Amino acid sequence: MPVLPPNTIVGKYRIDNLVGVGGMGEVYRAVHVQNGNVVAVKSLNNDRESGTALARFRNEAIIQFNLRHPNVAELYEYVDYPGRPCIVMEFVEGQTLHDLVRQEKGLPPARALEILAGVCDAVAYMHVKGVMHRDIKSENIRIAADGTAKLLDFGIAVGKSTPALTRAGHVIGTLQNLAPEQVRGLRGDARSDVWALGVLMYEMLTGNMPFDNADSGKVARNILEVRYTPASEVKPGIPKRTERLISGCLLAKPEERFATAGILLREVQRARRPKPPGLGVVRIGSREVPVLHAAIGVAVAILLAGYLVILIGLLTHREPVPAGRPTTMIQRTLGVAAGTGLLNSFGDIRLKGRLPDGRGSLNRAQSARPSLSRDRQGAVSPKRLSTPGTECHNQSRRKELSCFHS
Ligand SMILES: Nc1ncnc2c1ncn2[C@@H]1O[C@H](COP(=O)(O)OP(=O)(O)O)[C@@H](O)[C@H]1O
Ligand SMILES: [Mg+2]
Repeated sequence: MPVLPPNTIVGKYRIDNLVGVGGMGEVYRAVHVQNGNVVAVKSLNNDRESGTALARFRNEAIIQFNLRHPNVAELYEYVDYPGRPCIVMEFVEGQTLHDLVRQEKGLPPARALEILAGVCDAVAYMHVKGVMHRDIKSENIRIAADGTAKLLDFGIAVGKSTPALTRAGHVIGTLQNLAPEQVRGLRGDARSDVWALGVLMYEMLTGNMPFDNADSGKVARNILEVRYTPASEVKPGIPKRTERLISGCLLAKPEERFATAGILLREVQRARRPKPPGLGVVRIGSREVPVLHAAIGVAVAILLAGYLVILIGLLTHREPVPAGRPTTMIQRTLGVAAGTGLLNSFGDIRLKGRLPDGRGSLNRAQSARPSLSRDRQGAVSPKRLSTPGTECHNQSRRKELSCFHS
């Protein structure tokens, strides 16, 4: 039997039917008696109207009244109905995210990301205003008829003007959604909401809670040790970058998590963007590298290897000279194409070979720079070179000079 039976008049509204029951009270669908607008009326439980419950209910109304966001149910007014204070707010037709996730046994990643983006946007907006929700869970989110996620239930939210309503060391919230610091009885901060957003994403993707057990002691231990089965093991096919959103929220140390819901939102939006067509990733060891980056890396490696081969060739080049022919002078700088740098370093000429008249061999270095010239194609050709006892001429305009003992 609902506390407020149908047709009860609460302020300007006529109660229609009960739509939900929570820890603090009941929520009804109601209709404005004059203009017919449909609203939700949340009334505080009669037996809960202790000083603290009332103070908390008023705090809920003040916090929600000061929030204007497309992903937050809008609060219209506070009605002091005798013995049952009520808040009147936007009625969110549809179902709770909890029911949707259980019905679908987990949502497709794209849909889960869309919902998470909306909730994150609302939480980021609240954090900027200095408000922490502290009870982010699928039961407190409704999916409106047009698919929009609406955040509800600011019953334990805290803002800048919230009085101290919780005793120190007293755990508040829903155990399965609590961050390790909250399990330890600490107050937590915006990063505890970031943890809860990670739990929510896991639940949406898998249909299960990451920390779930009939034994609440075990749940608390698993939260403190951050022990959970990765979402992709529960439900294969979850993209890595989507799963990384969960692991970036579910970290024991608050300072290691996404620092704010705003930062998490940016990552969610990035994960929602489609990958550029035709470009995938390749695995190198344990890392995923975009194909484009890998291709650039391979091209650079090939170029460097080619350069090294040319260099080694230049440094080790020895050209045999057949006996009997005029001594050939070999220019060590084979790599004209390798450019001026090489030429400057190795721009010497080595006279090498046997002298034609059988008077011994020749293997002598000589700087060719003074007599080097370039032809129109850029090829370097010493035209004429004389060393003591040897006379050389360029006959073919190639890299070889004919040298004669003089
Ligand atoms: N604005 C609303 N429109 C439609 N249903 C609502 C609305 N607010 C709450 N409800 C329903 O009532 C249930 C209890 O509301 P909630 O604010 O979470 O109460 P509690 O603080 O007691 O947990 C919710 O799970 C939701 O299904
Ligand atoms: Mg609730």
